[in-house]
Amino acid sequence: MIPVTKPFLPPMEEYTKLLEGVWKRQWLTNMGPLASDLEIRLKEYLNINHLIFVTNGTIALQMAIKALDLTGEIITTPFSFVATTSTIVWEGCTPVFVDIDKDSLCIDPTKIEEAITDKTQAILATHVYGNPCDVDAIDKIAKKYNLKVIYDGAHAFGVKINGKSVFEFGDITTCSLHATKLFHTVEGGFATTNDPELLKKMASIRNFGISGPESFDNLGINGKNSEFHAAMGLVNLRHIDYILERRKDLATYYDKKLINVKAVKPKWNNSATENYPYYVILLESEELLLKIKKGLDDNEIFTRRYFYPSLANTLPYLKTVDLQVTDSIAKRALCLPFYVDLTEEEIDLIARLILRYQNN
Ligand SMILES: Cc1ncc(COP(=O)(O)O)c(C=O)c1O
Repeated sequence: MIPVTKPFLPPMEEYTKLLEGVWKRQWLTNMGPLASDLEIRLKEYLNINHLIFVTNGTIALQMAIKALDLTGEIITTPFSFVATTSTIVWEGCTPVFVDIDKDSLCIDPTKIEEAITDKTQAILATHVYGNPCDVDAIDKIAKKYNLKVIYDGAHAFGVKINGKSVFEFGDITTCSLHATKLFHTVEGGFATTNDPELLKKMASIRNFGISGPESFDNLGINGKNSEFHAAMGLVNLRHIDYILERRKDLATYYDKKLINVKAVKPKWNNSATENYPYYVILLESEELLLKIKKGLDDNEIFTRRYFYPSLANTLPYLKTVDLQVTDSIAKRALCLPFYVDLTEEEIDLIARLILRYQNN
């Protein structure tokens, strides 16, 4: 059996070593020393000034919307994980879907202006599969219409745009550190901003809005993460170079082996570095995708239609909208098995089977 993903696990002794300190201190959560250390190390690694470690990427998005005081319409992408949209609704705002660019698969900035109304307050765009949005075009529109910008950078750990971290763009960028992500803390996430006041506000929101022993300054939530999760992050960060190297090698190997498959890959932003969070192919047709997926399933090789279906016409709590590019892409995008422990021999087998089912 070959799963579509497997979490990276560091040598167990490295993790348990950090837990010895947790047992000694008996400090398990509430911004403990390991959680603070992880924030410092992530800032160093990502070369950014402000970051807060939270429970997961979904809470990070909710906190971003709350911290920016958004209450109206938020322009967003229908080609993302459901949390990008559900958090907007959860926070009492209205998502307005704009179609994606057929090459980058990120929101199409040329279609944003026509969706702006007098209720629009922000743009929430996903760096899809880690591939950065056109941040300059989005920034220009945001400035022109006085809109806030949140980036869902759940997949974008480690990516740089023209040498600058992807987490430095927009008002706030969020990230998921879920076990399936290339860098993870089991469950976890973070939010980044260039604005120290906004960071302060998010730190308060993360801790129920508590400002002192007997005072509150914001409507808050429990967004704190634990020492156990932080320890996993600290240990995994020691292995990040190996993780990125290995994923790059595997992606390059897949590229070679799949050269004759009737599929293309999303077009990467040429100002940005790649971080290889997923190995995704866009097949020529949905029919071909279904044929290949079934063939691989029969051989216990598991793939994932990610993201499918389009968020614009599938959520029971929203009116449906048909957006042609997203609909077409969502029907043809397939994530192949991709994780550090995958072997070249397994890729040989996957590629052989894909070619066999494509040609049958
Ligand atoms: C694009 C995107 N946004 C948000 C999330 C939510 O992150 P989490 O699972 O950490 O809550 C995910 C998680 O997979 C995601 O892929």
